[in-house]
Amino acid sequence: MPDSTIDLQRILAETFVARAEHHPTLGSTNDRARECLGDGGPTPLLVVADRQTRGRGRGTNRWWTWPGCLAFSLLLSPETTPSDPRRRPLVALAAGLAVVDAIRPLVDRQPVGLHWPNDVFVGDRKLAGVLVEVPSEGSHIVGIGVNTNNSLADAPEEIRDRAITLYDLTGRRHNQTGILVEILKHFQRALDQVRECPDALGARANELCLQIGRTLAIRNGAESATGRCAGIAPNGALLLDTPDGRREFHGGTLG
Ligand code: BTN
Repeated sequence: MPDSTIDLQRILAETFVARAEHHPTLGSTNDRARECLGDGGPTPLLVVADRQTRGRGRGTNRWWTWPGCLAFSLLLSPETTPSDPRRRPLVALAAGLAVVDAIRPLVDRQPVGLHWPNDVFVGDRKLAGVLVEVPSEGSHIVGIGVNTNNSLADAPEEIRDRAITLYDLTGRRHNQTGILVEILKHFQRALDQVRECPDALGARANELCLQIGRTLAIRNGAESATGRCAGIAPNGALLLDTPDGRREFHGGTLG
């Protein structure tokens, strides 16, 4: 067993994960999950790494995975995910909501919520990020990085004033397997919701959106806009009140 506290047997027994791998070091857990696509093994496949040397975020972002971080990816088959591509943004929101639900009991009275499209923030600082990739028709790779038992004291300078970790928030270390099990249980329920009652999931994301009322600038390809955030629509889109009226964004990068 590598030098961390990930208990794969417990995860396999208590969650919807059908196959699991734990690596001391990987380039990126999303890349490893992609290698397993089409290998005929059971899914959902969970890939966890204690360290990533090429952890990726959305766009050109990197994801720093230093000791104590929780970094993992799930390879999901088309049966588990929505077949309608218009519902795909909800998969990322479902992952963000699962992290919020798992973390909230550990940080009582702190404002834990979402930053569209799928970041988890505590107050003004980022605790977790989600990277969803759809490598082949219908299969999804959902990568999640959560700052759990790491400390900002060891973080690169560039993220020290924007990030937060569970350890720094609570002053104690947490059981990584326990957190992972909770995230996976909440995520399974949220994925059921994406298929069965997607509007309810969108409404929940809206309730937990911490950006409402803030001025946001978004760029989506050639299109860009600035406006006051009016929340998250039932379909998972970002709502911005712009000088041209209310607009919906189904994708894009916030400035
Ligand atoms: C973001 O904030 O832009 C998304 C960050 C996603 C990071 C996770 S860590 C596990 C998985 N493997 C990766 O390379 N990235 C995701």
